[in-house]
Amino acid sequence: STQRAYWKESVVYQVYPASFLSTGSGSQPGWGDIKGITSKLDYLKDLGVDIVWSSPFFKSPQVDLGYDISDYKDIDPRYGTLADVDELIAGLKQRDMKLMIDLVVNHTSDQHAWFQESRSSQTNPKRSWYHWQPAKTDADGNRVPPNNWAMQLGEAHSAWTWDESTQEYYLSLFTPEQPDLNWENPDVRAAVHDVLRFWLDRGACGFRMDVINHISKEPGYPDARVIYPDSRYQPGHEHYANGPRLHEFLQEINAKVLSKYDSMTVGEMPFARDTTEILKVIAADRKEINMIFIFDIVNVDDDPFRFSLKQWKPKDVATIISKWQTDLVQGGGWPSIFLENHDHPRSVTRFTDDSPRYRDLGAKLLALMQTTLGGTLYLYQGEEVGMKNFPLSWDASEYKDIETVNYWKKMQDLSGGDESKMVEAKRIIQRKARDHARTPVQWSDGPNAGFCPENVTPWMRVNDDCKEVNVAAQAPGHQNTLKDASKEQGGGLKSSISKAAQKMADNFAPVGSSLGPVVPTHSMPIPSSEGEPLSVWQFWQRGLANRKAHKDVFVYGTFEALNVSNEDVFAYRRVGEKEAFVVLLNFTGETVSLDLPEKPAKTSKWVISNYAEGPTDRALQGKITLKPWEGLLGTAA
Ligand code: GLC
Repeated sequence: STQRAYWKESVVYQVYPASFLSTGSGSQPGWGDIKGITSKLDYLKDLGVDIVWSSPFFKSPQVDLGYDISDYKDIDPRYGTLADVDELIAGLKQRDMKLMIDLVVNHTSDQHAWFQESRSSQTNPKRSWYHWQPAKTDADGNRVPPNNWAMQLGEAHSAWTWDESTQEYYLSLFTPEQPDLNWENPDVRAAVHDVLRFWLDRGACGFRMDVINHISKEPGYPDARVIYPDSRYQPGHEHYANGPRLHEFLQEINAKVLSKYDSMTVGEMPFARDTTEILKVIAADRKEINMIFIFDIVNVDDDPFRFSLKQWKPKDVATIISKWQTDLVQGGGWPSIFLENHDHPRSVTRFTDDSPRYRDLGAKLLALMQTTLGGTLYLYQGEEVGMKNFPLSWDASEYKDIETVNYWKKMQDLSGGDESKMVEAKRIIQRKARDHARTPVQWSDGPNAGFCPENVTPWMRVNDDCKEVNVAAQAPGHQNTLKDASKEQGGGLKSSISKAAQKMADNFAPVGSSLGPVVPTHSMPIPSSEGEPLSVWQFWQRGLANRKAHKDVFVYGTFEALNVSNEDVFAYRRVGEKEAFVVLLNFTGETVSLDLPEKPAKTSKWVISNYAEGPTDRALQGKITLKPWEGLLGTAA
């Protein structure tokens, strides 16, 4: 049976610090800060979070919102100071929680001292810390980049940037301001190891490793296969994703650094699809990293790139999830569960129906799914209250992300003044842009949604729906947000939580306390009591508590996809040593019925529905009807 580990059972909550909470302690008004994270630790603990992963808060020119780092060992003044991070780590420790660092070492910022030296002359000792190449000349005698690779955050451009003063190109796969480090150089690797040690010694538990499968480039930088015949530059990831020395580099990090600590790692690995390849990175006996984010699920509506509107089917989601739930564990690896992060639109918009009628059910359906799947669970800020994409009516200038901005420019160039093309481009960014995950967290229905003080303009516009959807309205006991708000108590923020919801919440035993969740086997108090609806936040809180109370099943148990007679329903069984559960998820806005096979899907009791009235009287096997976007959880006979 599977080896137990803290990082397998933990619930990880991702903070995107610029948009989390602005207490005014950073240098830039309207920008989130580290003290903002620290001030919310009780909130996160109460929700059921064990580990906080923060996107980068290091010194950075913020060209790619912190994923362009100019000093790995210092904090960007917009976010605060190193002392603030120490305080955050101490606060987490006090609550038996941990901090995971975002390690961005495929590239640095062009403002990093290493690159400044490297670009200073062709003979500088740090020249070989980056990928420098002489120009080529085309048939007409023009200077051209060394190959046809495209820049990832601006498809229309070359991945190579020309340096006028030293007359060579450097590789910059993401933006010109993010030069790729040359991992072939052992000094680079040693410098990276030093960064890891710095943060582990300071008390971090581990790392989310940004685009970690890009660190080994194919020698000779061969031209990319042509996917877009009309484009000058091509994706090219076959030459730098999962490259020849990836495993060697990862094993070295593990042997020299990670193995000396009780650490955890999750790798971001775009363009990793092949099970055997993936297992080479995460199988426990390989001693590389613990788990990765597999992107199939968030690429389900890409064609093949982000800015497209491919129609996905519930069956696609079921197939992808079922595959990774079984293949990774069987191969000695470990899955990660996530539907959102700072690079993807909101899941309630993407996978369900975010209209007023179904939004709440949709968010709970996804919560029920995620809290009952195997692996380490990652929750993204705002997902716990069902934040959704911002509306089509917003002007294109509200999109701040470099990727969206570059796409918009490209479309303007290509459209040649054809308005209908821009209308379509706008429709696409409203569905797919990374910006939707980056609007400020909706803490309350007050000014700026409680993200920053009233007299300050947030760096990104707050979603208009913060009046209806916000933490204060959904999370009992978490009405106050900003420090100043708590000072002006009484006249301050008013709780908008309904009396009914409060009463219902009182009926539950406290969860997430140091006593551990009080949830007896087979009586899962998630959904509703006397028809009073739980908020999305409460549904997540109960779901996480129950996941932990039944971790033998939900974290460590086996996964079996169930063959039910309806392709729009994702059905599965989770089996532990002593108990088992069945889950049915209706991924449509229609009432559906299906045949539940007696073996192995017979339930002894339906215990949870995302509908307020609960599962009500439902057949235990045979013909079962599910309401629109309904999710059911039952104990298996
Ligand atoms: C990762 C990050 C993304 C960033 C890119 C370059 O994909 O998640 O936000 O733009 O790497 O660092």
